[in-house]
Amino acid sequence: MRVLVTGITGFAGSHLVDYLLTLPDVQVFGIKRWRSRTENIKHFEQKIAIYECDLRDASSVRDMIEVVLPDRIFHLAAQSFVPTSWSAPTESLVTNVIGQLNIFEAVRRIGLEPRIQLACSSEEYGLVSEDEIPIKETNALRPLSPYGVSKIGQDMLGYQYARSYGMFIVRTRGFNHTGCRRGPVFVCSDFAKQVAEIEKGRRDPVIWVGNLDAIRDFTDVRDIVRGYWLALEHCDPGDVYNICSGVGRKIRDVLDMLIGMTSKSVEVKVDECRLRPSDVPVLIGDNTKFREKTGWELTIPFEITLKEIYEYWLERV
Ligand code: GDD
Repeated sequence: MRVLVTGITGFAGSHLVDYLLTLPDVQVFGIKRWRSRTENIKHFEQKIAIYECDLRDASSVRDMIEVVLPDRIFHLAAQSFVPTSWSAPTESLVTNVIGQLNIFEAVRRIGLEPRIQLACSSEEYGLVSEDEIPIKETNALRPLSPYGVSKIGQDMLGYQYARSYGMFIVRTRGFNHTGCRRGPVFVCSDFAKQVAEIEKGRRDPVIWVGNLDAIRDFTDVRDIVRGYWLALEHCDPGDVYNICSGVGRKIRDVLDMLIGMTSKSVEVKVDECRLRPSDVPVLIGDNTKFREKTGWELTIPFEITLKEIYEYWLERV
């Protein structure tokens, strides 16, 4: 089976490739841009076929799809950092929505019938009231960031192409996922890196933070990418599924867990630049639909994931 992963140089994409390489009869193809960072793919670079492709360029996508002829596509490439979607909203929307459109159009025009998974996001739910927790797939979408809007664009485009053309598209709404290789701007990596720097004496014992009152539902990235695979094996085309732990954690508690890993005493200070024009207050998902459809289960407790992230950064700072 020929499996194409977009976003292999990123966090979830590189973990998905790790998972795919453990499966029998799977040939993995990935794409990268000429200027993509490659530290996350060094360990499997020789085991997969990698093509240069810019998803924002329709002809580049079509050329690549014509060569790869995928049976499965896992579409993970995206502008994925929420704050960047305020400073670069056009870039975020074009990369996320038009990039995906180019894949759909290439597949359709070449006449292929791959199964396609879309990495949509819990950010699409945005503002959720207390009686809507845990969030089901049927919940209203009230995005609070351009990023959330871009993911709704991807999500709805997936729905529309599945209905209009009968394409086998499964939309997964991933809640927060974390682990080693997560970029240092995302909250767990950001805090873990700062604590590691303090532990190693590389910075003053001050941790800079944003909104600590937000609540997020974290899952280890390795459980998430296994879920992506199961989604294309078992889920219904055109449908949408939450992938999440179902457990809400205050960001303040995540910070306290990390601070508990150093022997140093630290001071916590708010950095105004880290506060967003609007931050989704609470995201806790209901994963019943996905579990019942696929048999997916969480296997890695958050405490283990966070410890591994801290150790990852201790080795790198
Ligand atoms: N990054 C960051 N840095 N976040 C902070 C900080 C900080 O110093 N302090 C508090 N936070 C809060 C943010 O305001 C947010 O409420 C929460 O921590 C998580 O922030 P991020 O890790 O940046 O993730 P996100 O929730 O905005 O988005 C992530 O999850 C989505 C799924 O819900 C990303 O991975 C998205 O790509 C993904 O779709």
